[in-house]
Amino acid sequence: MQQLRLTTPAGACEIVVGELLSSGLQTLDQEPVLMIDENVLRLYHDIFKPYKSVTVPSGEASKTLQTLGSLYRELVNLEVDRSTLIVGVGGGLATDVAGFVASTILRGTPFGFISSTLLGQVDASIGGKNGVNLDGYKNMIGTIRQPSFVWCDLSLLGTLAHKEYVSGIAEVIKYGIIQDFDFMDYLEEHMEALLNQEISVLEHVVGTSAAIKSDVVQKDEKESDLRKILNFGHTMGHAIERYKHLLHGEAVGLGMVLAARLSYSKGLLSAPEVDRVEKMVLSAGLPAQMKLDPDEIYQNIRKDKKKSGEDVHFVLLKGLGNPIIRPLALKELKSIVHDLC
Ligand SMILES: NC(=O)c1ccc[n+]([C@@H]2O[C@H](COP(=O)([O-])OP(=O)(O)OC[C@H]3O[C@@H](n4cnc5c(N)ncnc54)[C@H](O)[C@@H]3O)[C@@H](O)[C@H]2O)c1
Repeated sequence: MQQLRLTTPAGACEIVVGELLSSGLQTLDQEPVLMIDENVLRLYHDIFKPYKSVTVPSGEASKTLQTLGSLYRELVNLEVDRSTLIVGVGGGLATDVAGFVASTILRGTPFGFISSTLLGQVDASIGGKNGVNLDGYKNMIGTIRQPSFVWCDLSLLGTLAHKEYVSGIAEVIKYGIIQDFDFMDYLEEHMEALLNQEISVLEHVVGTSAAIKSDVVQKDEKESDLRKILNFGHTMGHAIERYKHLLHGEAVGLGMVLAARLSYSKGLLSAPEVDRVEKMVLSAGLPAQMKLDPDEIYQNIRKDKKKSGEDVHFVLLKGLGNPIIRPLALKELKSIVHDLC
């Protein structure tokens, strides 16, 4: 078992990585109310049934204001008060929604997460961002508020669809590429064991990823600067995800390869380094190449810009382990996307 602490001006969060953590619900000081992903409740009924709960419908299409309305009403019917501990249980979708509901109902109740997907454990449950989509735009409504705990229960991952598991590995690879040479070496040596969910490898990988993300969030919780490096591979990735209907990690894998190639074309990264990024993505079983329509990608990046003005803050690599943020004008981006695709 590994334990770490994330402390920011918005609060402190205890992160625990290990097996069978969900049984710890019995040891909490107060009876929690669960906000639980519908599939996780069905699969782990015996563990979670004893607790009061509301069900979060699975699927990105349910991450809406409309769903929030129903969830608030259900919680009111369960007579939650401002001291009720809300525990979000599930992948990134359930914890994003639960974190937002807990941050806003009755102006905020205490909350924690039990994270049940690899993507959730290494990324979504950590860092305090939560919220829902609006009119198809991702995470437009939300807050930043730290859960008091995140339990990354590795024993829940066994039932996760393989594709979903592999999608989480993309974010793990990202941490190696942007931050940690030793971790990159470790991933290259242990990819097969990771794919087989060997527990010691999984614990090391989730623990290291959680530590890297926590460290970045502690230094820049509000993403004014440093936290942007976590978006490596995501500018292209989000655009590809939207039009190709890929899983998040599949699109981020492609996005990382494209960002590495762009770094090469700007003289920042060597050809062997680009190869290394591509090989890591491929070794996880993620796509590293795909026929892409540059116009679709460009239009999708432009739409995303409704969120953040005229420049795109692109994360490039000035050598592996050294991400830099470069503002690219939308006009320049158009020709770049055409060259890359
Ligand atoms: N807050 C953040 O910082 C942040 C970061 C990255 C992603 N996200 C968000 O996370 C969401 C994606 O998260 P995700 O990839 O975990 O997907 P998800 O939560 O949608 O879960 C994927 C699927 O796996 C099922 N599932 C969950 N746990 C399971 C288990 N243990 N066994 C079997 N099935 C299980 C779910 O029901 C769902 O069908 C997106 O909404 C994204 O915007 C948030």
